[in-house]
Amino acid sequence: MRIAVIGTGYVGLVSGACFSEFGVSVVCVDKDEDKIARLRRGEMPIYEPRLEALVAANAAAGRLSFTTDLAVAVKGADAVFIAVGTPSRRGDGHADLSYVFAAAEEIGRALAENQANDPGGYTVVVTKSTVPVGTGRQVAEILRRTRPNGGVPEGGADVASNPEFLREGSAIEDFMRPDRVVIGADSDRAREVMRQVYRPLYLSETPMLFTDIETAELVKYAANAFLATKITFINEIADLCERVGADIQDVARGIGLDGRIGRKFLHAGPGFGGSCFPKDCQALVRTAHEAAADLAIVETVVQVNEARKARMADKIIAACGGTVAGKTIAVLGLTFKPNTDDMRDSPSLAILPRLATAGAAIRAFDPAGIDEARNLMPELVYCDDAYDAAAGADALVLLTEWNEFRALDLARIGRLLATPLIIDLRNIYQPAEMAAAGLSYVSIGRPPRLSPA
Ligand SMILES: NC(=O)c1ccc[n+]([C@@H]2O[C@H](COP(=O)([O-])OP(=O)(O)OC[C@H]3O[C@@H](n4cnc5c(N)ncnc54)[C@H](O)[C@@H]3O)[C@@H](O)[C@H]2O)c1
Repeated sequence: MRIAVIGTGYVGLVSGACFSEFGVSVVCVDKDEDKIARLRRGEMPIYEPRLEALVAANAAAGRLSFTTDLAVAVKGADAVFIAVGTPSRRGDGHADLSYVFAAAEEIGRALAENQANDPGGYTVVVTKSTVPVGTGRQVAEILRRTRPNGGVPEGGADVASNPEFLREGSAIEDFMRPDRVVIGADSDRAREVMRQVYRPLYLSETPMLFTDIETAELVKYAANAFLATKITFINEIADLCERVGADIQDVARGIGLDGRIGRKFLHAGPGFGGSCFPKDCQALVRTAHEAAADLAIVETVVQVNEARKARMADKIIAACGGTVAGKTIAVLGLTFKPNTDDMRDSPSLAILPRLATAGAAIRAFDPAGIDEARNLMPELVYCDDAYDAAAGADALVLLTEWNEFRALDLARIGRLLATPLIIDLRNIYQPAEMAAAGLSYVSIGRPPRLSPA
């Protein structure tokens, strides 16, 4: 099998590396010349655990290569995966499909050329990007339209949908051992190519859902909207816990042990962010509006989550005695979750500028996100580690649950802080251990303990 992957971002690069690990010959394409040059040198353009070694091994084995020339990559490919970005469209929040359509046009031209040289050739064009229902059909139309004077003969190409469910931070494990693979396709031939591409997973009996293209497209949005709803639900229950003196950790455990509910995605926090949930929920709401369907739950989830991120700044200000003007706040964690450098739609981007506007000086540290954060929030002071950030601060805010923040030397933090106050928006510490260390502690959905015991 030979495949091309268009787009070498979080999804394209991981997919390309993992498919090559499956034994498929993969050419990864990006129009970003700098990215391709770095990849050819073995440098990763993103932070993702285990990725560098996987890319190096498969590149050395000759199964994985990188190019900016899409036509070369598509030549003779059994499948071409579109893995370009689908950000929120400015203005209305729908998915911006311009990158997908631009890639489809280029693929169409390359396929027409292939077909002229090899009339019996066959290629499946697969959308792996998260795309709204109906996009696969539009890609098929672009492929048809792009044939110069007839171009790709009937049967020379099919489209398929293969949404990706990997999580940044554990992307390789997720890709290699997915809970399921979803494939939307109309023809037996396309389904067979997809089975071959995923052969190791097929053989290891990973559940494979074969369905139509529209259904596959919707599965991805429904999955993300459901997970975002689960997070938002537990966040609201956490707020209620604070009002009534209950403990959200125990409530989450108490409901999560019910197999019908499940324990995952029941961690109360500052609100969901990242490159997928916010934009995908918004795009799903747009799809529903266009289809005149009511999607009140998802619409509410988007609103509640946005409001929550703003309220987290108020929570920090309240914990600091009602004002942060002239105060210094140490912040640990800037990315939307641990083990990634991705800053897209991170809660920190909603919370920290509000604190700065309220007069706080912010000393921040993140293990992987600082380079990107510096571009987005130049007003912050960036520190070398957690202790550097804490030095002289009036409060320390835990914003992302990186492992290295789970085992801080609390006595040292207490000595470094000007005021011994920790605001833990991820509930990674126990109130009792904070009290034992002499630190005031504010967390999410647990009875406040503002002064040490
Ligand atoms: N990031 C995730 O965790 C994740 C998980 C599942 C699904 N997705 C979906 O996968 C898609 C890609 O997401 P991402 O985070 O990898 O995006 P990304 O922004 O990290 O990467 C996109 C890449 O595509 C390249 N590109 C754009 N147009 C191109 C073209 N015409 N030819 C070649 N390269 C082109 C860009 O230069 C960029 O490197 C999105 O639809 C996203 O919603 C993302």
